[in-house]
Amino acid sequence: MWELPACASLPTVPEGRKKRIDPETLSRVGRTRECDRCSGRRNPFPLDFRNDSAVTRHRMLPSTLGRWLGREDREQALRRRAEAVLAQPWAPFLWNNEPLRDVMPWYFARGEGARLWDENGREFIDLELGVGPTLLGHNHPVVREALLQHAGAPIVTSLLHRYEVEVAELLTSLFPGAERVVFGKNGSDACTAAARVARAATGRNFILCHGFHGYHDWFAADMGPLPGMVPGFAGYTKQFLPFNDVAALEALADEHSHDLAAIMMEPAYRHLPQEGYLQAVRRIADKHGALLIFDEMITAFRMHRGGAQTVYGVTPDLTCAGKSLANGLPLSALMGRKDVMEYVNKIFYGMTFQHDSVALAVSRACLHYYRDHDVAGDVRRKGEKLRKIFNDASAAAGLTGRGVGLAARMDLDFTPVGHLGLHEQRIIFARETIKRGVLPVRVAFPCEMLTDADLDKVQRAFTHGCQKVARALPRA
Ligand SMILES: Cc1ncc(COP(=O)(O)O)c(C=O)c1O
Repeated sequence: MWELPACASLPTVPEGRKKRIDPETLSRVGRTRECDRCSGRRNPFPLDFRNDSAVTRHRMLPSTLGRWLGREDREQALRRRAEAVLAQPWAPFLWNNEPLRDVMPWYFARGEGARLWDENGREFIDLELGVGPTLLGHNHPVVREALLQHAGAPIVTSLLHRYEVEVAELLTSLFPGAERVVFGKNGSDACTAAARVARAATGRNFILCHGFHGYHDWFAADMGPLPGMVPGFAGYTKQFLPFNDVAALEALADEHSHDLAAIMMEPAYRHLPQEGYLQAVRRIADKHGALLIFDEMITAFRMHRGGAQTVYGVTPDLTCAGKSLANGLPLSALMGRKDVMEYVNKIFYGMTFQHDSVALAVSRACLHYYRDHDVAGDVRRKGEKLRKIFNDASAAAGLTGRGVGLAARMDLDFTPVGHLGLHEQRIIFARETIKRGVLPVRVAFPCEMLTDADLDKVQRAFTHGCQKVARALPRA
């Protein structure tokens, strides 16, 4: 971070050189002028120009200050360096939308609550939270404290840390379907392990899926833009099932009955299960001797501290969790019935970083916090406010867009009109909201630290975003 020594030392840029002056040149300029608001007072703290308050104290627009300091070049410079060495110079989940690349931030420099700052000091309300995991918010005191307390402990050894036991105890107390737990690093680890365990436990192969279960071959080999990217995997071991359609599930299960290892599903996210649906899925799995696996990557802690299985009262044989398990530190868990989980030791399961103690230390702190505070309830209330903001902004612009699905993880949907489909409208919307300092592209994830002031900023950005979409629509 580039810092100036004191607020009274704001450099004066020589005439004619105000644009694209870099920090090193500035530090050599030497001449200073008194800041008229702070004159006479010496600030003992170094100035951080990414801090709004410094900007406000000097009555400068952030953009002016940024230009003076040549700071807007930081993102550009990093982008050029990234393109020379990174195969994915932007975060691929959200930003591989080419039409957004000129407005989006590429690098975060810091985060606080629901706010993120990029390398140029541009501030954003973060409604993506790394695709969900940062349930509490950035730099939450619980996480910060756990990290500080754990600093100095060995990170990975070939032994377990006692936190592994404590986190497993917490999980078994929170999730009805958890009698035994094994940890991994990514959601994909837990989902792959679940599929492998189900196949080993049943001696069968076929898996009926609903939702997204990670990037590993068994699930994703036929999903990439390059068809058949992993020979031999494409499509024959699994099939997607239509959600909330008991008759369709029954027909598929009958068809694959002899080879059905598991029904693996996200129990709720974009579509909430209709009354009795999950119970029916449980019944169908039992009838065919297949396992029921809930992928609760999104719903665990975000929907309820005990996951969707607690909300809907349906206990799966296996549960996959990750994301908010350690509020963003890499940790996932496969949990399940004792007899089924014994198969973890009969398939190959293990990885170098499986017992990383840092993620476990943070998870332990988060799980205590989730247990003692109604985080999911709080986030749901904030999500409902977000939904209302989006729905109202859409209606005010004459659109029929709606926030769809769980309040804690909402799709921002628009109705296709003419040549402008859902994707195109989302891009128009996102370009506008990003320019106005709000970061949702298609899904909004609220965090516990999201404040009313954050929501005010979101409301202004959503209003402009929806107006922009409305103006782009073909006239009837
Ligand atoms: C429901 C679900 N399952 C599995 C995964 C894969 O998790 P990861 O990206 O941590 O491997 C994701 C990731 O978004 C997910 O949403």
